[in-house]
Amino acid sequence: ALPICSRRQNVFRGKSAWTGKKPMNNANKKREHWATRAGFVLATAGSAVGLGNIWRFPYMTGEHGGAAFILIYLVAVLLLGYPLVVNEMALGRAAQRDPVGVFKVLAPNSPWWLVGALGVFTGFIILSYYAVVAGWSLAYVYKVVVATVVPGIDHARVFQDHISSVWEPILWQALFLILTVGIIAAGVVKGIQRWSMVLMPVLFVLLLVLIVRSVTLPGAGEGLAYYLRPDFSKVTGRTLLAALAQAFFSLSLGMGAIMTYGSYLDDKDEIPSNAMMVGGLDTGVALLAGFALFPAIFALGFEPGAGPGLAFITLPAVFAQMPLGAFFGVLFFILLGIAALTSAISLLEVVTAWLMDEKDWSRKRAAVVMGLVIFIVGLPATLGYSVLKDFSFPGLNKDLLDTYDWVSNSIFLPVGGFMMAIFTGYVWGAKHAIAEVNKGHKRFMIGQGWALLIRYVVPVLIFFIIVVGIYDTFFR
Ligand code: PHE
Repeated sequence: ALPICSRRQNVFRGKSAWTGKKPMNNANKKREHWATRAGFVLATAGSAVGLGNIWRFPYMTGEHGGAAFILIYLVAVLLLGYPLVVNEMALGRAAQRDPVGVFKVLAPNSPWWLVGALGVFTGFIILSYYAVVAGWSLAYVYKVVVATVVPGIDHARVFQDHISSVWEPILWQALFLILTVGIIAAGVVKGIQRWSMVLMPVLFVLLLVLIVRSVTLPGAGEGLAYYLRPDFSKVTGRTLLAALAQAFFSLSLGMGAIMTYGSYLDDKDEIPSNAMMVGGLDTGVALLAGFALFPAIFALGFEPGAGPGLAFITLPAVFAQMPLGAFFGVLFFILLGIAALTSAISLLEVVTAWLMDEKDWSRKRAAVVMGLVIFIVGLPATLGYSVLKDFSFPGLNKDLLDTYDWVSNSIFLPVGGFMMAIFTGYVWGAKHAIAEVNKGHKRFMIGQGWALLIRYVVPVLIFFIIVVGIYDTFFR
């Protein structure tokens, strides 16, 4: 029922997308597909491997009982993460559309498209503040040099001064978004895939270099003990919640990023093993990041701090004590910047795919316009440490960046993931989904076990994340 019109008419007569005509679905355009299996796996792993892996996972592990937390996290990845990665890939490939289009294709004339719309909106919000933290990382690629070579410098001060100076963080945030827009504007194969193939191997190498440096410092054992010694006395209900929510965020689930990347898959591509590789790489990098951080932190006599302080205050202090610290500091912040960039492109791609598929915008226009809008929406998060530092929403007691982070991670992502599981389990039907997943070249297949997880286990676990998360924030 969708009007077919030529590409030229829709895309290049600049105004047509604004005139309120019925949205067209680009049915006449050829959809791009990943050129190679490695391209898809590395791009998707790039989305998953992000700030969440490099600093959040290690400090959560240290705080929540070391190996005890790792064990729980692995169970969370298997029971919740893997089934949902498979689910999103299948939904995307089945429909060959953006997240809103997925639901329009699979459940026409129903309100299910709202789930996709929530995803697009969430991608928008996450990228707006993700770019702020990513901007700090870029700034620190040179700031860490200053911080490591100036004797006796106050590292907490340096960071505080950076985030509370009005213009500097904004410029880095803008630069980061320009890089993101540039990659997305170049397309799926020439942009996302090409850059993931370059950046992800660099990320692995940097991580390995940092690990080798860290674990060979005299006294590294103490840090390893802190990171890994299982301490089940620290495991509480909140630990379980933290593990589940971390698995969710770390695998980029619940907002359609994996779905959008899945929509560039071909029927001959294989979902079960690719999803396994993505989950494995994401979990592997998270675990390895702890080996890069804790041995060095303890060997040089520091306490692991939590939150942003770990990366931007504790680590510069650690590098300052280390032989050739400035060099390793630069490597670390390049690593953080790359991890953030390959995640950011997946966030912008969701929004871009939506405008291309549903509103018939050109890729370049969608990427540029949305990059600009996301930059503007992110400004309050940056300014939350300077001009707006006294502002916080009543009852939340969080700065603005944490507020953006909280709504998206504690509410939007879990709600999105919950609805996607319910949709597949009860509306589209597990049978259709399983058939979709098992298409293509087969290393292994999935079966009824997956259906049980998607229909029962996953919704219950996510329900738990949402309810406990809200309770914890408002009623603790
Ligand atoms: N997975 C990314 C990280 O670990 C964050 C992310 C979430 C990216 C959702 C895309 C979508 O930092």
